[in-house]
Amino acid sequence: MNPPPRVTDLLPHAIAARERAHAPYSGFHAGAAVLADGLIFTGANIENSSAGLSICAERTAVFKAISEGAQTVTAVVVVADGLEPIAPCGACRQVLAEFCPPDAPVLMATLQGETRISTVSKLLPGAYPPSHHPTEPS
Ligand code: THU
Repeated sequence: MNPPPRVTDLLPHAIAARERAHAPYSGFHAGAAVLADGLIFTGANIENSSAGLSICAERTAVFKAISEGAQTVTAVVVVADGLEPIAPCGACRQVLAEFCPPDAPVLMATLQGETRISTVSKLLPGAYPPSHHPTEPS
């Protein structure tokens, strides 16, 4: 049996997904790949003329994974063309906190090969966690 993919194995998938970004407003193309229940899902940022409807690459990838039936995201890669690796926005950090274990690695990369590694809990310390949400209406 093959060993499970490592976070660095996701990078080529994120780079390929970036090619499918729809970013005519910012011109900033981002790609992401996540490992969820052992499978790789990818996403790109998809912008809209109504700016608030745009979605980042990371959330596209996570929502694709969850909507396909995966339950847990265990590694995340995001890549863009820039001088420094991009960091996920606050909204994406909260979504990652919902579906990832706190120690899940998040690899941020540039197309030029510069990388920075962090974890979900380091990116969003003190996150409002899923376990705090009431399951029954009070
Ligand atoms: N963006 C991402 O897709 N991921 C990030 O981590 C940061 C920003 C997108 C959102 C928007 O479409 C564009 O990049 C410019 O902010």
